[in-house]
Amino acid sequence: MGIFLQATATACLVWLIYHYFIIPLFLSPLSKIPNAHFTSPCISTWIWWKRRTGFETRSIFAAHQKYGSIVRLAPNEVSVASLDGLRQVYLGGFDRSPWYNQFVNYQTPSLVNILPREQHSTRKRMLTHVFSKSYLQGSTDLQTISSVLLFRRLLPFLHSMALTDNPIDVFQLFQATSIDFMSAYLFGLTKSTNFMRNLSSFQRYLSLCHAKVRFYPNRARAAEKLEAHCLSLCRAAESFLQSSISSEDMMQETPCTNPVVYSQLSSSLSKSGLSPEHKPLALASEMLDSMDAGREVTGVALTYLFYELSRNPTLQTSLRTELLALSPRITYPSTSQSDSQAQALPLPHAIDSLALLNGIVDETLRLHAPVPGPQKRIVPSMGTIINGYSIPGGVEVSTSARCLHQNEKIFPNPSVFVPERWMQGGESAKGNGYDGNKEMRRWFWAFGSGGRMCIGNHFALQVIKLLVSAIYTNFTTTIVDDEGIEHRDEMVAGPMSDKLILQFHHIS
Ligand code: HEM
Repeated sequence: MGIFLQATATACLVWLIYHYFIIPLFLSPLSKIPNAHFTSPCISTWIWWKRRTGFETRSIFAAHQKYGSIVRLAPNEVSVASLDGLRQVYLGGFDRSPWYNQFVNYQTPSLVNILPREQHSTRKRMLTHVFSKSYLQGSTDLQTISSVLLFRRLLPFLHSMALTDNPIDVFQLFQATSIDFMSAYLFGLTKSTNFMRNLSSFQRYLSLCHAKVRFYPNRARAAEKLEAHCLSLCRAAESFLQSSISSEDMMQETPCTNPVVYSQLSSSLSKSGLSPEHKPLALASEMLDSMDAGREVTGVALTYLFYELSRNPTLQTSLRTELLALSPRITYPSTSQSDSQAQALPLPHAIDSLALLNGIVDETLRLHAPVPGPQKRIVPSMGTIINGYSIPGGVEVSTSARCLHQNEKIFPNPSVFVPERWMQGGESAKGNGYDGNKEMRRWFWAFGSGGRMCIGNHFALQVIKLLVSAIYTNFTTTIVDDEGIEHRDEMVAGPMSDKLILQFHHIS
């Protein structure tokens, strides 16, 4: 009996050693890939701990700097930081990892978390048109929304704060602004949020969002409240679509705009044959995701952009010179403003052509990518080859904007904010055949790439460029602390937790 037990224990030990040490260290195809940490081939603890403590992206980046463009993070996890990796994984359409399922609203998957490829592309096709650059640039709805939100909400607020020397936490303000823009485009101007004018209610909304994503104990209750709020906006948009709008309605104090995205998705879902009982939640789930993305990531991008500009008065002056060439100028207060009509703005296409503005936006998204971390995918069953390494099916593979945007061969002095790098590359390239700008574009990954790329990128860019143009035409900004004392080198810490306090100064 004793001998039998001893033999069983030895067999188990041998099996454990073989399974957990010999295979991952020597026999697995992944064993040829450099390890981010010496324990990586055998156990996931290292990367798990980095994730838990908020150091995941930085630690993976450090591992790439040390070991090259492909590293093994855990027994079944690999990170890549190369164009070959991007091509294979993201353009190759590898499926998203089930990790994204934790963010499902109404227990009804949306674009972010529909995993099967066919279903995902069907849903994406329903929405691509209304988020395309040409549609957004030509949308009279979005142009009206832009004018109303700028001239009736944002600029009057900033003007009064500047007159009274009151500083503003722009991280909160820009999230409120972004969600107001997004919800007006989703649901129509008269049915959307008005958080810009009601920052205390936005603070309550924000604390629900934080409770939901940070897994606070009241997470379920917070998610329920956010879902109920979004459903009420959907119902309002639905009744707007059901009732015919009279010309009188159109002349109301707040101009009506169409619920562009809601109406597009609603009719596409009906045509797709989705049953009437499932449709409302499918719609609401998609709308809530867009509101979240519109609020948070756009708010983060704007905050970092204003942080960089507020530290650099010379850059603000150069930008203003460029903005003054726009026609009409986005000046506030303006004598031509009427209560019932939206004030004219330059065409989005004209704003989009400003070289320095574009450089500032691209450089902000490069240096401070609002989604800096790994975008995880699963290698399909037939496996793949990346950078010459064979990777079997089922392995989780990812890259991140942080790792790609900090490559010093592509972006010299990668930690320094240099908007001009985006303006020069194309020109300097011509003599020697190397197009630096084109190469930087290939490595620019703020919105991801391939079939799962961000659907809201053009919307976010159009809104960001408009807001920056409107604000720096009328104001200069400086960073101040809670006491109103100026600080040029103040760091903005983690975007989820921190604030950026700015003093706005009106340019007379
Ligand atoms: C500066 C602003 C934004 C940034 C930096 C950003 C970035 C990203 C990134 C990195 C992804 C993941 C791509 C991947 O997995 O490969 C993504 C996905 C997504 N974003 Fe954005 N985003 C922004 C604004 C928006 C806005 C305004 C919307 C609103 C419509 C939006 C909606 C989405 C959706 C629905 C997805 C999932 C797309 C899919 O799986 O097909 N994003 N975004």
